[in-house]
Amino acid sequence: MRLLDKIAVITGAGSGIGKATAKLFAKEGAFVIITDINRENGQETVSEIKADGGKAAFFEVDVANPEAVEATIKQIIESYKKIDILFNNAGISNVGRLDEVEPDVWDRIMSVNVKGVYLPSKYALPFMMEQKSGVIINMSSCAAEMGLAKRAAYSATKGAVLALTKAMQVDYAPYNIRVNALLPGTILSPFVENYLKTSYDDPEVAIEGIKKRQLSGDLGRPEDVAKAALFLASDESSFMMGSPLYIDGGVVFGKNA
Ligand SMILES: NC(=O)c1ccc[n+]([C@@H]2O[C@H](COP(=O)([O-])OP(=O)(O)OC[C@H]3O[C@@H](n4cnc5c(N)ncnc54)[C@H](O)[C@@H]3O)[C@@H](O)[C@H]2O)c1
Repeated sequence: MRLLDKIAVITGAGSGIGKATAKLFAKEGAFVIITDINRENGQETVSEIKADGGKAAFFEVDVANPEAVEATIKQIIESYKKIDILFNNAGISNVGRLDEVEPDVWDRIMSVNVKGVYLPSKYALPFMMEQKSGVIINMSSCAAEMGLAKRAAYSATKGAVLALTKAMQVDYAPYNIRVNALLPGTILSPFVENYLKTSYDDPEVAIEGIKKRQLSGDLGRPEDVAKAALFLASDESSFMMGSPLYIDGGVVFGKNA
């Protein structure tokens, strides 16, 4: 049990990577606080964890809403007395070149993906600083490091999250708080399945194209990222601080010519 008795808060844990991570953290002994804007999916994650013998609770919250995030973190602290792990995972994307992105879409992606990391961290950090321990995992993406077609707004947010992670680590290292980032490549989650459906006439052809750019020859699965999140959440990564961790089938550093 690598996370025995830890209180772990995961945003966007009703689906995909967040859900897979919640289930893995629970198996490793954590009490997992599932947060999501989607109540039905969040509650479903809790039910699955409980059916498996794990411990979890659900809080409905939009990570971009300051009042809601502050109230949720306060409620979590009141109920569970501490937050050991915060995984800022919730995120959204659109498809489009910069000139095709409408200002309201730009603002919403920035709000969910960047403000959605800032807000839960802002309200959880004072408690972590007081308890002189904590782990924060921020969800970036390989899009922070490589140019991807038609992902202007999304890439900007994930680059911001990576830079924010490094800045946060410097400020909170004196409080025994570690802050690291995950940089997944293409992971077959509902997020990507939806993107493939809406962007291509034939999603299967698109998947074959993505597989070709991977050294692994395949897309990742949410469980691949969950295992990396577990490593960052556990003491096994105690010497990792402000680091990007790639889970990408070789897409960033390899070249599949
Ligand atoms: N799937 C990939 O290939 C991939 C690659 C790199 C990074 N990521 C990042 O991983 C994270 C999770 O992606 P996923 O693939 O599991 O997606 P997903 O769509 O399956 O899950 C995202 C979850 O976030 C929730 N969410 C969305 N907006 C929210 C908000 N405002 N407040 C609270 N919850 C909200 C959704 O309801 C959903 O449950 C995202 O930040 C994404 O950018 C994904």
